[in-house]
Amino acid sequence: MYTANTGARGSVRKVTVPEVRARKNSGPKIAMVTAYDYTMARLVDESGVDMILVGDSVGMVVQGLTNTIPVTLDEICYHGRAVCRGVARAHVVGDMPFMSYQTSPIQAVESAGKMLKEGQFESVKLEGGEAFAEHVHGIVRASIPVVGHVGLTPQSVHALGGFKVQGRGDEAAEQVIRDAKALEQAGAFCIVLEAIPPDVADQVTRAVNVPTIGIGAGAGCDGQVLVCTDLLGMSRGHSPKFAKQFAQLGDAAVSAFKQYVNEVRAGEFPGAEHSYKPNHGELVEAEEKMAASGEGGVVVPFMR
Ligand code: KIV
Repeated sequence: MYTANTGARGSVRKVTVPEVRARKNSGPKIAMVTAYDYTMARLVDESGVDMILVGDSVGMVVQGLTNTIPVTLDEICYHGRAVCRGVARAHVVGDMPFMSYQTSPIQAVESAGKMLKEGQFESVKLEGGEAFAEHVHGIVRASIPVVGHVGLTPQSVHALGGFKVQGRGDEAAEQVIRDAKALEQAGAFCIVLEAIPPDVADQVTRAVNVPTIGIGAGAGCDGQVLVCTDLLGMSRGHSPKFAKQFAQLGDAAVSAFKQYVNEVRAGEFPGAEHSYKPNHGELVEAEEKMAASGEGGVVVPFMR
């Protein structure tokens, strides 16, 4: 038996696309976090985060892959449905997986449409700049809001030669700026800037009229995004420089599991407080006697 799903918090108002866009000028900065399941999404949403991204990082964080390339559209939709059940307030964005949009603008519109219909997303994110502006334009024309993503684009890990900082040197920096401008022109309502020098991110942020959301791009962006397990200190192994741990839940989880193992082995768990009342316990027998004698005792069929 699991803790029951009591649904997302009833009367909370959703963060909308126009509101996110307006934060470029009005602030405050936009806080975005990834989530991949109902339980995490509910906790993240309760914190007051503005946007939740069901990233294709699900491949690395949840599936244990070494990159995001194998993640499929059906998998993203499955995680989208789970996340949306736990979210009342935050705007929920879905990452378009590798090869779900690259082939053509038509493929991009069809995949984005499927993500809204089957994944319950409110917008989609795709990686790439100038080369995918037409794809973004097509999706936006279909009334599907788009988040852009430039700088380090993890789906291009092989072409880039690894997960490396992008935009180093004047020429590379100019390209990142051109990419961001092309996305803005195509209708993206905000743009993720990943792993670029902070001064380049500042230039991009000044060059476009939509919010920039940085990850490894310094403090000058209009918002920030982190992977939930990095933020919570749950990731094991190499962690990128920008991944600040705001808690050490990984260590806390291991020590809780250890305590559980010890208590099970010692016969200490479960104690009486975590066990149902026994069939022939005193209370149960008293209730049964009352019912049998017609004294008005009601035996409620609750779980003892
Ligand atoms: O997939 C992901 O989690 C992302 C963020 C790192 C921006 O794209």
